[in-house]
Amino acid sequence: MLRVVVMVSGNGSNLQALIDTVHANPEVDAQIVLVVCSKDGARALERAAAAGIPCEVVALADPSERAARDARLAEVIGRARPDLVVMAGWMSIVTGTFLDAFPGRVINLHPSLLPAFPGMHAIEEAIAWGVRLTGVTVHIAEEAVDGGPPILQEPVPVLAGDTAETLAGRIHAVEHRLLSRCVTLYSQGRIHRDPAQPRRMIVDEGGS
Ligand code: GRF
Repeated sequence: MLRVVVMVSGNGSNLQALIDTVHANPEVDAQIVLVVCSKDGARALERAAAAGIPCEVVALADPSERAARDARLAEVIGRARPDLVVMAGWMSIVTGTFLDAFPGRVINLHPSLLPAFPGMHAIEEAIAWGVRLTGVTVHIAEEAVDGGPPILQEPVPVLAGDTAETLAGRIHAVEHRLLSRCVTLYSQGRIHRDPAQPRRMIVDEGGS
């Protein structure tokens, strides 16, 4: 069984998708063993509690305190012995202090086709740029923000008259599906790094 820790900061709609399609799905050999939230009182915590999943709050930190926060994060998450750590709307930069504790096992969800529009305002920036196509990326987390190798990507068209809200609605629907698919593929051992080309992930979609 794949032991999954999910890191969240707010609403937790992606966490909910993972609960519904992975955690509570007997056909997927994976369990969410811990939810870590950066904000007390976040809706994501209610969702985890409703599913009976243990939660911990590890608060955001100023840049000067980030190393200490990340050491604590590594300790809290390490205790849950995860095979995979999923940043699903975790709104904080993490450092090597955290990432080095789980090498190659932390993945992040981002609402654009990376490397376009990294950072906190990807959806608004796609509208401002006037691009015709944006999308969703699930990628390996590295210290460079939104910078690790992509695992799954899916385009989402930007339509005439789209606002950040209408585009976000369509992007979120794709996020929920893509993230669930990614964790399911991990549970089936179908995702690996290409030894010949370490920036590239090998994803065996298996036609299923
Ligand atoms: C998602 O759009 C994710 O890509 C971004 O933050 C949002 C989180 O939404 N990093 P939710 O908390 O899962 O509803």
